[in-house]
Amino acid sequence: MASPKKYSWQEIRKHSSDKSAWIVIKNTVYDVTDYMAEHPGGPEWILDWVGKEADEAFDTKGGMGQEHSVFALEILKKYKIGVVDKSS
Ligand code: HEM
Repeated sequence: MASPKKYSWQEIRKHSSDKSAWIVIKNTVYDVTDYMAEHPGGPEWILDWVGKEADEAFDTKGGMGQEHSVFALEILKKYKIGVVDKSS
């Protein structure tokens, strides 16, 4: 399988609005632009984290101390576009 596309932080940071919304969870880059409107509880939860690393926010549902379900992880997988270029 081809190696995943790598994105620099410089590039990732540009995708920080509802027009183009990328989030990084565990060094993986997800384009959640099309998902945000469907997010339970509203898009705002995700919008706080676009263009950024959101490991803790995702794991705690924005500080609510609850993990996302396996179902949520399955959805997330569909939006993977690549990984963080760690040399960036
Ligand atoms: C990183 C920022 C995120 C935060 C702070 C966040 C926060 C939350 C919160 C507070 C809820 C509960 C809403 C309610 O019950 O009214 C929730 C539920 C949910 N979220 Fe997120 N979320 C984030 C990202 C995502 C992403 C990227 C996905 C999937 C692509 C996702 C999928 C879901 C799903 C499916 C639920 C329903 C409950 C569950 O299955 O765990 N969330 N989220």
